[in-house]
Amino acid sequence: MSELTSALKPIPAMAGIGLRAEHYELIATEKPKCGWFEVHTENYFGNGGIPHHYLHRIRKDYPISFHGVGLSLGSVDPVNTKHLQRIKQLIAEYQPGLISEHLSWSSFNGVFTNDLLPFPLTTEFFNHFKDRVNSVQDFLEVSILVENPSTYLRFKHDEIPETDFLNDLAKQTGCGLLLDVNNVFVCATNHDFSAAEYIDNINIEHVKEIHLAGHTKNHFENGSILIDTHNTVVDDLVWSLYQCAIKRTGQIATLIEWDTDLPEFEILLNEASKAQNILDQVNVAAA
Ligand SMILES: [Fe+2]
Repeated sequence: MSELTSALKPIPAMAGIGLRAEHYELIATEKPKCGWFEVHTENYFGNGGIPHHYLHRIRKDYPISFHGVGLSLGSVDPVNTKHLQRIKQLIAEYQPGLISEHLSWSSFNGVFTNDLLPFPLTTEFFNHFKDRVNSVQDFLEVSILVENPSTYLRFKHDEIPETDFLNDLAKQTGCGLLLDVNNVFVCATNHDFSAAEYIDNINIEHVKEIHLAGHTKNHFENGSILIDTHNTVVDDLVWSLYQCAIKRTGQIATLIEWDTDLPEFEILLNEASKAQNILDQVNVAAA
């Protein structure tokens, strides 16, 4: 185990909330009851300033995880070592319990799309993605989690079921999986497959964190599609799917993600307490 890995402070198997700047002051001063907070790593790439002032204060009272949105893991561009170096510095500074990224790509020829884009699930891409995860973990000297994406299209030349891709990725690189239950629901609806079967097919021993978020339904001339908007409460059907998932995982770190149309913190706390109640019930059932 590397020095950095041993320095990480674990995330409890409890409900947490995505930390957003609008809630810094309330959290730092009122210290609400919440298991942990997740931050978008790239929001702390600058030195000093308000983000670091508050993150240091909040870190004293809560475990935190780093969730990256800009590493472009699936890209064929070279891995950005400056980006990785900054993440490594932040890991040393804040000792997050988990570090996660996405099964996606975001850049080509150095141009960033500012989006998490899908790629074809082929053996060729699996080997490419596996090499990228290995090189990132080697550089950071920690294991990362890779999150299943929300997608709106599929490639005709997909060869590997996404669950097999993720299971084999975890097995061959030692990375963990971040199971976003809302993303599973969004994809299952958009691509017409069983969300419950997807979760059953994930090798649960690799799952170290769950995400929950809200989505919206967008209507078009020829039908409708679910968009992973992170701007509303978790859908009832996603809560049901979450209950199925944690029957397999047992108690596990669970994050409420909310990124746009940010509500009062009270609403996020309410969503987190719903998740916590479900986690507690699993504990009771197991007992
Ligand atoms: Fe997520």
